Order: sequence, then C-alpha cells, then structure tokens
Amino acid sequence: MIRLQTMLAVAAFAVATPALAQDATPAAPAAPAIVVDEAVGLPAWDKVYKVFSHPRCANCHSPDDRPRWSGPSYGAARVHAFNVQRGVDGSGFGNTGLRCTTCHFDSNSAAPHGPPGAPNWHLAPVEMAWFGQTSAQICAQIKDPARNGGRTLDEVAEHVRTDGLVAWGWNPGPGREAAPGSAEETTAALQQWAAAGAPCPSQ
Ligand code: HEC
Ligand code: HEC
Repeated sequence: MIRLQTMLAVAAFAVATPALAQDATPAAPAAPAIVVDEAVGLPAWDKVYKVFSHPRCANCHSPDDRPRWSGPSYGAARVHAFNVQRGVDGSGFGNTGLRCTTCHFDSNSAAPHGPPGAPNWHLAPVEMAWFGQTSAQICAQIKDPARNGGRTLDEVAEHVRTDGLVAWGWNPGPGREAAPGSAEETTAALQQWAAAGAPCPSQ
C-alpha cells in the first residue's frame, strides 16, 4: 500500500514537472528572494517606530521649517520658540544671525531647559519628517530612498548605530526623557525587520 502511494506520487510528479518547468521563469543566479515574515517583522518594526516617533527623535524630524520641542507648557503644536527656522539656504542650520549653533553647542547645557547639544546640531531635511506621522507612514518613508537620504536599509541601520545626533536621543540632558532602548537595540531591530522582508503595519 505504501509502495503504491509512493509510485502514484512519483507518477504525479513526473506528469506535473514538465508543466512546472514550462511555466517557470529561467532561474536567475541572484540572491534568494526575501520571504516576508510579518510575525517577526512587525514586532521588530514596532520597536523601531517607538524610537523614531519619540519626541527626542521626532522633534528634529519636523514636517516644516520649524523644529519642535517638548514639555507641557509649550502647547500642542510644540513649535520651537524664538522663531527658529530651518534657514533660507535649506541646510537646517538656521538663518544667519540665528543659527542653531548660536544656542546649541557640542554638548548638553547642564541647566534644566537649557539648550541641548551635540556636534553638528541641525534640523533633518523635510523629506525625512516623522513628527505627527503614523507608524505606517514612517515605515513607508524609511524604505523609500527618495526620503531616507538614498540609503539601503543596512545603511539606515548603520546611521542609527553611529550618528551623533541619533546618539543624543539617548543622552538628552537634564529633565528630558531619553528615547526607549538604545542605539544598539534599535539597530538590531532595524536589521531584524529588514531580514524579515521589511513589512509595514496597516496604519
Ligand atoms: C538635532 C536634530 C536631530 C535629532 C535629535 C535626530 N535626528 Fe535623525 N537626522 C537629523 C538630520 C540632520 C538628518 C540627515 C542626515 C543625513 O541624511 O545624513 C537625520 C537623518 C536620520 C536618519 C536617516 C534618514 C532616514 O530618514 O532614514 C535616520 C534613520 C535618523 N535620522 C534617525 C534618528 C533617530 C532614531 C533619532 C533619535 C534617537 C534622531 N534621528 C534624532 C537630525 C536629527
Ligand atoms: C535662541 C536660542 C536657540 C536657537 C537659535 C535654537 N535653539 Fe533649539 N532649543 C533652545 C533651547 C533653550 C531649547 C531647550 C528648551 C527646553 O528644553 O525647554 C531648545 C530645544 C531644541 C529642541 C528640542 C529637544 C527636545 O527634544 O526636547 C530641538 C529639536 C531644537 N532645539 C532644535 C533646534 C534647531 C534645529 C535649531 C536651528 C535650526 C535650533 N534649535 C535653534 C534654544 C535655541
């Protein structure tokens, strides 16, 4: 009986194979296709989202020409005071006479509500804005080279692991809550998400 089943299976395979071979596109020697694994990828993305959407990151990734800042006394829009602007040159370093570096130095002010600091302090380009965006929107954006500085997902992870402004999010100075986790954990979550096919949530 077992033998008969085996023979039938072999026969069925022999019949099916030529049809499969005809339909199949020629095997490309490229890397194997990544199978999207939502069970692994979505929880990993959620860790990334909780970091990226945290005020320590999102305040600098703002949707217009004004940085954001945090605190109950700043109101819902939380626009940076002093009419601070991205800068007419579009650089993110502010306008002449009110550059970010007028107030933001290479390290944090020790005074509560003093200006935080890290080398190269400036606003992220507007296409990299996350402030107020949903998880799905940020996820789509991170995968889009036109909106992530032309990076592969490996390079996005590397930026998070090594960049000084990102690192500041875990060392934000007195009176500010640090972003959740660490740069290493966020890098690992990005790599895990990418290896799982980089799935995005529905909202
Ligand atoms: C002081 C402002 C500032 C802060 C704070 C900041 N960023 Fe950025 N971020 C920038 C700027 C400027 C760029 C553009 C640099 C570039 O493309 O080389 C950038 C680019 C990025 C990029 C690469 C582009 C992209 O959209 O994929 C990632 C990822 C990123 N930031 C993550 C973070 C995370 C995570 C935090 C918080 C832990 C953070 N940033 C905090 C200013 C900031
Ligand atoms: C006139 C001084 C001044 C200038 C100029 C200035 N800032 Fe600030 N900034 C501050 C102060 C002070 C704080 C801290 C406010 C607080 O913690 O209550 C701050 C806070 C911030 C924060 C919020 C950090 C956080 O997550 O709580 C960001 C982001 C920021 N500045 C970005 C910028 C950028 C980008 C520029 C240039 C385009 C700039 N600032 C120019 C004084 C300044």
